[in-house]
Amino acid sequence: MSTTANKRVAIVTGASSGFGAAVARKLAREDWHCVLVARRRDRLEEVAAETGGEIEVCDVSERDDVFAMAERIATRHDAVHLLVNNAGMPGRGGFLEIEPERIEQVMNTNYLGNVWVLLALVPLLEAGAPSHVVSIASVASVLAGGAGGPYTASKHAQIVFSRSMASELAPKGIRVHAVKPGFAETEGFPQDRFQNDPIGRRLVLSEDDVADSILRIVRRNRREMFVPKFYAPAGMLYGVMPVTFARVLGWFSRRREKAYREESA
Ligand SMILES: NC(=O)c1ccc[n+]([C@@H]2O[C@H](COP(=O)([O-])OP(=O)(O)OC[C@H]3O[C@@H](n4cnc5c(N)ncnc54)[C@H](OP(=O)(O)O)[C@@H]3O)[C@@H](O)[C@H]2O)c1
Repeated sequence: MSTTANKRVAIVTGASSGFGAAVARKLAREDWHCVLVARRRDRLEEVAAETGGEIEVCDVSERDDVFAMAERIATRHDAVHLLVNNAGMPGRGGFLEIEPERIEQVMNTNYLGNVWVLLALVPLLEAGAPSHVVSIASVASVLAGGAGGPYTASKHAQIVFSRSMASELAPKGIRVHAVKPGFAETEGFPQDRFQNDPIGRRLVLSEDDVADSILRIVRRNRREMFVPKFYAPAGMLYGVMPVTFARVLGWFSRRREKAYREESA
């Protein structure tokens, strides 16, 4: 049934730009066959032309669309060996700043989008076992209290889902990993505010840095990984004293926001 008899099959969501497109290019170079998922058909077709992959136009926040997509994929492939659960969107503000519809959209995409895609693909991933799922979480999945509450909440929910599924899917031979990147320059997440900040600028990752870490976490079979590593101590500290950490992060974040607003006024 499979059209790609000798190749391992990877599904990459959010493959029309950013980390998703970058990891699809790297996977193709390592001889994976990629199924590229996102809403913008034209952009998916560009990435498919480069990688030799297939495309699936799908809004991951729509449960029925996602399950229909999984059914279509099952008619073309017997098994899936890797899912990069990456599609996501920014919040662009705090709970008091953005529209309620956006809060809903952020949760439906970053959290529930991840849930529907993984649940819909469990049978194919089980057929491909030992197989891997990499959730693209964020440092915001484990550090709260700064700016961007709605995004942070969605990323916290996403990592809880990922950790729960790691334990539920282990007996089926499906290993669930999570990459937690810091700030990276991509289409949806421009990092303009670091342009005039020489220290901040050095913290900004490229799409390729994150794509490399996706391949690395699978190769090393690690459960979770911060990119870059230096966020790890902050993650541990937050685990030990979350309230104090959130207070300090909130203070720094308000100061930074104020300076940024004054600079751009
Ligand atoms: N860049 C950062 O600083 C950063 C840091 C940590 C974590 N992350 C996470 O990394 C992931 C990828 O982001 P990125 O930085 O690569 O941004 P990006 O370039 O904007 O990519 C986002 C991708 O998600 C897709 N997408 C968004 N909503 C979708 C939906 N409802 N259904 C299907 N596809 C959808 C977009 O495609 P369409 O618009 O074509 O649908 C696009 O391909 C996200 O989960 C983000 O939260 C980003």
